[in-house]
Amino acid sequence: MVRYAEITGWGKCVPPSVLSNSDLEVLTDTSDDWITTRTGIKERRISHVNVSDMAVVASLHALAAANLEPTDIDLILLATCTADLVIPSAASLVQAKLGATNAAALDLNAACSGWIYALNVGTQMVRSGGHNRVLVIGAEKLSFLLDFTDRSTAVLFGDGAGAVVLEATEEPVGLRSVEIGTDGSVADILCVPGVGTAGNRYQGDPSDYAVHMDGPEVFRRAVTAMGEASSRVVEQAGLSVDEVDLLIPHQANVRIIDATARKLKLAPEQVFVNIASYGNTSAATIPMALTEALQEGRVEPGANIVFAAFGAGLTWAAAVVRWGRRVEPLGTSDAHLPPVDKTAAELLEANVAFYGEGRRSE
Ligand code: UT7
Repeated sequence: MVRYAEITGWGKCVPPSVLSNSDLEVLTDTSDDWITTRTGIKERRISHVNVSDMAVVASLHALAAANLEPTDIDLILLATCTADLVIPSAASLVQAKLGATNAAALDLNAACSGWIYALNVGTQMVRSGGHNRVLVIGAEKLSFLLDFTDRSTAVLFGDGAGAVVLEATEEPVGLRSVEIGTDGSVADILCVPGVGTAGNRYQGDPSDYAVHMDGPEVFRRAVTAMGEASSRVVEQAGLSVDEVDLLIPHQANVRIIDATARKLKLAPEQVFVNIASYGNTSAATIPMALTEALQEGRVEPGANIVFAAFGAGLTWAAAVVRWGRRVEPLGTSDAHLPPVDKTAAELLEANVAFYGEGRRSE
């Protein structure tokens, strides 16, 4: 029997606290107009909980959509670069909080490309016969790694989680083609220099705990890599661009998304964009967007969906997924995060105090 891995469940978790562009105008020297026109972002979410908590809520929605219990899952892959802790993995915490007692669990860090990497790994594990039901999660708390007084990065990122369930099937659905790639020789153009064992634990410079990025250089490379990898996976899947139904790209900058869509010659209605609401949630953007695309009726049975991403590493990934017959969830869940009594700006007070107010007047 030839085994395939079908996406049978999907879900997301969006933290309740909203940080708007006008909130950012108070924290750093930026404007709603600049952020909107240069990135497409209007607001993002700031999480009051950890990555594993968001991952659990997204997973419970995905499990309900697949009509499965946590104990049905035999592998949990959590794509993240903002795990709760270095030890243990955030996936282990998710396994415990879900009660997924039959699942092995591991984190996978390929930054913004991580969820496509994890989809590939999970699919191969199912196809090889080693696993039958896999949770593939993307969850991030980028707000932890930002200096909210640094306008070059603070305006871009946000927090959130998305998850899918992969199940073994004999139907020829799921991943049809995939490309994952890395160029570690230029890793320093997008990094957090001081968080991890290479950091100076005793005398760190505060700025080393935040994302450093050469934005224009990352932009150029993202446009090239996402466009070219998307074209290659469409060809490898034996499809013409006319047969692509929907592009669900990583949501880093609407201008990168538009360039990727142009490369594939797709019309705007064939591209799913939700960056205005959430900004760049790294490995979570695509599973969150996929969930919303399904909820909005944008995915037809049998649809050919292209995913594409680019991020720190530097990594890139693209894939073509053939959707199965079912586009409606089998069940729903009322899982949600605990309430928060602070605004997003209040959640960031310690961040702004840590990085100082001086930068605003520089
Ligand atoms: O997921 C993968 C990770 N990240 C990415 O994919 C991000 C890729 N990069 C980008 O999306 C874009 O490069 C940015 C959005 C980060 C920056 O946009 P840009 O069009 O490349 O702008 P720039 O960095 O070339 O800056 C243009 C101007 C500069 O001012 P001057 O020198 O022309 O006077 C910046 O200082 O815009 C200024 N600027 C800002 N102004 C207001 C940069 N950031 C801001 C800001 N608000 N937040």
